[in-house]
Amino acid sequence: MNKPQAVAPEFPRGPLPDDPTIVPASRPMPVDANRPAPVPVPAIPEYLSRVYTWAYLTPAYSRFLDTSLVVSAILWGNMNRLMRAGFSEFKPGQTVLQPACVYGTFSRKLAEVLGPSGTLHVTDVATNQIETCRKKLADHPTARIGLADAAEPRDRDYDGVCCFFLLHEVPEDYKHRIVKSLLDATRPGGKTVFVDYHGPHWAHPLRPIMLAVWRLLEPFAIALSKNEIASYAPPALARQFTWRKETYFGGLYQKVVATRVVAGT
Ligand SMILES: C[S@@+](CC[C@H](N)C(=O)[O-])C[C@H]1O[C@@H](n2cnc3c(N)ncnc32)[C@H](O)[C@@H]1O
Repeated sequence: MNKPQAVAPEFPRGPLPDDPTIVPASRPMPVDANRPAPVPVPAIPEYLSRVYTWAYLTPAYSRFLDTSLVVSAILWGNMNRLMRAGFSEFKPGQTVLQPACVYGTFSRKLAEVLGPSGTLHVTDVATNQIETCRKKLADHPTARIGLADAAEPRDRDYDGVCCFFLLHEVPEDYKHRIVKSLLDATRPGGKTVFVDYHGPHWAHPLRPIMLAVWRLLEPFAIALSKNEIASYAPPALARQFTWRKETYFGGLYQKVVATRVVAGT
């Protein structure tokens, strides 16, 4: 299948190079025939710096948030259950894309599920998140970590994609672009898995608290309590998948599994 060139350069292992050839795509380098071509680094999306600088782009605060205890508390004790729900869709030996970093032990555990014969490919749009993730995956030689905007097209197909709590943090146009990009990157027979917020049952005791938190801190999350994730896919692409949804914890969370139909079956 001919795929467009992804803006998903893979960095070599080791610390991120302090290399002037790695520049934001928005600030191109002058061409110098003696230097290797610059690797295009995706720009930080406007919504990320406007709404989430405190959570993802401030190293000191990231260090505080990046613990299993904090992540579990944010998810009302459901982190392990939701991770297991996502991971249960994948098998050892598969090549799986994780399109954004996740705090805590998520990537390590996913890499363990895929095993030494599988490959986990983690991407994120923020270099500090990528650096942290690379350290976490230092013991997993088959893991690959690189900078990419999840909304940009990929240049390859994966056996699976595991998109964990990313959609609720992006505006509507980005939800559409990310869902399309991840579905496009899934091979026939493969699964795109979304684990994220969902509209809690009207009588859920945490409903008023969550609505207040979303209004205050996570303005793009409210849409996920109203819209099906499948509705963000272009209809023609959505029809190439079978869709399955499960909800958890009184409907506050959901897992949506889109399995790409194999032609002729
Ligand atoms: C997966 S989401 C939320 C995960 C969850 N709240 C947790 O426990 O970490 C957080 C990550 O998404 C990244 N991110 C946000 N927008 C992105 C995009 N368009 N492409 C790739 N990564 C993105 C942020 O840099 C951050 O590292």
